[in-house]
Amino acid sequence: MRMYDLIMKKRNGYALTEEEIKYMISGYTKGDIPDYQMSAFTMAVYFRGMNEEETYHLTMEMAHSGELLDLSGIPGIKVDKHSTGGVGDKTSLAVMPLLASFGLKSAKMSGRGLGHTGGTVDKLESFSGFHTEISMEQFINQVKDVGISIIGQTKDLAPADKKLYALRDVTATVENISLIASSIMSKKLAAGASVILLDVKTGSGAFMKTEADSVALAEEMVKIGKNAGRTMIAVISDMNQPLGNAVGNALEVKEAIATLNGEGPEDFTKLVYEIVSEFLLKTGLAKSKDEAFAMIDEKIAKKEGLEKLALFVEAQGGTKEEVYHPELLPKAEYVMEIKSDKEGYISHIQCEEIGICSMMLGGGREKKEDIIDPAVGIVLSKKVGDFVNDGETLAVMHYNSATHTPPLDAVKRFLSAYTISDEKPVKLPLIYKIID
Ligand code: URA
Repeated sequence: MRMYDLIMKKRNGYALTEEEIKYMISGYTKGDIPDYQMSAFTMAVYFRGMNEEETYHLTMEMAHSGELLDLSGIPGIKVDKHSTGGVGDKTSLAVMPLLASFGLKSAKMSGRGLGHTGGTVDKLESFSGFHTEISMEQFINQVKDVGISIIGQTKDLAPADKKLYALRDVTATVENISLIASSIMSKKLAAGASVILLDVKTGSGAFMKTEADSVALAEEMVKIGKNAGRTMIAVISDMNQPLGNAVGNALEVKEAIATLNGEGPEDFTKLVYEIVSEFLLKTGLAKSKDEAFAMIDEKIAKKEGLEKLALFVEAQGGTKEEVYHPELLPKAEYVMEIKSDKEGYISHIQCEEIGICSMMLGGGREKKEDIIDPAVGIVLSKKVGDFVNDGETLAVMHYNSATHTPPLDAVKRFLSAYTISDEKPVKLPLIYKIID
């Protein structure tokens, strides 16, 4: 078999066989197939696509390119939740502790943020001492004892995806449904959970800008997971504006803690309830949505999710007092209110721009090597549908700066991300669809 022939086959619009995909992925992982041939192949896929069978084989080969986590020694149901990424998306920080309070076990591999989207690992590192470089033994034991453990992306799990994703990132071949689905699902399958919920974001702050593309991606991933014997759920949720009010690492951690105390913003709290309730229904712990919501209410009232978060943070070297006293978390030296210069309804927020503003304040990375500042970010006071008076605060910027002023570019960019109109807009749905 020759990689040249496989590139030509895909370029001419034909489907590859399982053997051909196996040859290509194992050759690429070992370094026998060079990046330039793989880039030509991914570009051919970008234009020609892959059918369902090819996408499944690609996923399975990438999942098997490294270690497969064996969670069978952990009693109980092993669950995993994955978001396709967005702005202000701190959902895992509230969902995992609540799942653990119901006895469900989260063994999770999470990434760092890049560009306008945040990453769970960066958010958790706002807790002083918290780290994700733990041994596999600690990872497994912690899932058993606490119910939650998080590791960063390791070179051992799905190494073919790690290599291929880095290549796609620099060859303009990320945005293809088969390639995204196989990339995400290879990691999920390698990480071993039996019940997997995918939170597929849709809108201006998401990878998938339209609902139709988001649904197509979700359906593809659900099919792959089911074929691999996993229980799958996909939630298509809104990313046309930041989720909750806080954008920025420690600010988002504080918002997740507030939510576990029953004091979170309405949209974020609703998404957390929806996701946790889907897990409760799928695992048979609840019989109806109403029952699931009442069960979550009780856990929040008894602060059981909060306690799980504290145990998890402590187990991974963090400071649990910061969970009970979030005012101890990193705080920016300066805050500035950003005021509206006109009155009206917020009709649109360019979500991606808000993520970029937070990155410009130091809360995110433009390049992989950048060091982030956990304290900085933005807390929105007004969201789509709200009325704002001339001179009223739209948001508060938290920043650290040698000149004591926030970067002017970030303030300008923030203001131009908001559209204010005379007419009250139609409220955006939070959840578009649930696929299972
Ligand atoms: N996230 C991934 O892990 N892979 C993709 O291809 C896109 C988003």
